[in-house]
Amino acid sequence: MKPEDYAQGDAFQAEKRTLFSTEWLPACAEAQIPTAGDFVALTVGGWSVVVTRDSAGGISVLRNMCRHQNMPVVGVPGGNCESFRCRFHGWTFDLRGKFMGAPPPVAPRDPSVNHDLIALPMIVEAGIVFFSLDSLATRPSLGPALPPYGGTIVTDIAANWKVVVEHLLEGRPSQPDVFMWQGPLLALRRAGTKAIVEQIVPHTFLRTRLFTHVFGDAADDAHRQMAGVMKSDCEALQSGRAAGAMPHDDSVLLSDFHRRIEAAYAGSS
Ligand code: FES
Repeated sequence: MKPEDYAQGDAFQAEKRTLFSTEWLPACAEAQIPTAGDFVALTVGGWSVVVTRDSAGGISVLRNMCRHQNMPVVGVPGGNCESFRCRFHGWTFDLRGKFMGAPPPVAPRDPSVNHDLIALPMIVEAGIVFFSLDSLATRPSLGPALPPYGGTIVTDIAANWKVVVEHLLEGRPSQPDVFMWQGPLLALRRAGTKAIVEQIVPHTFLRTRLFTHVFGDAADDAHRQMAGVMKSDCEALQSGRAAGAMPHDDSVLLSDFHRRIEAAYAGSS
């Protein structure tokens, strides 16, 4: 790994084309969308998606890209609605992404063509919704069910996503009943009847959002404080990377992570 891999859009684009388009990526905790019409919208490594709960209780992960002119249909991070009306010209889609209609001046010329939002392969694993652009990717496994959901803390970090991953992995042995890494974007810590899922969301090459999903406990100030410490640690590490201070591959997990990144870069060149 080189300092520029943490500070340039080129590296991020390579990661989008290879790593993020071929792996299962976490989207949200299933419990964040408990009732019909609930949705969460986010952009993960350049892929913009909406996770929805329909009236039959089913979950869909849809590309947030209107079939009229490829603009984002949903412009808010979450909420509840009966259907999605594109902000730009009013094309409307149901909670499974099915095209419902459009104002006459911008209606599709050929109604026989499929204008539905693109539904991506998705699975729910231990209460976490994952999606993939490649249905052949190896499915994630998080082990036994997690305890009841207690809330999510959102932290924006001014650092490259790989710094956040490295901070989570540094010095940690893989012990499935204590710490599990579900690369490239999720870490699970278990302690007795409690568990924390750290979901890393690469926004841009220098902006990362961290979702800390708390299970077996209510998300509270102690969790917020821990997330705040994580934020300052990662932002300090990002400054170090810019100055050439690279991480030491001091654990199997960290070495494996770097191998996967290097393979992704090699695959995109
Ligand atoms: S881009 Fe969505 S309605 Fe035109």
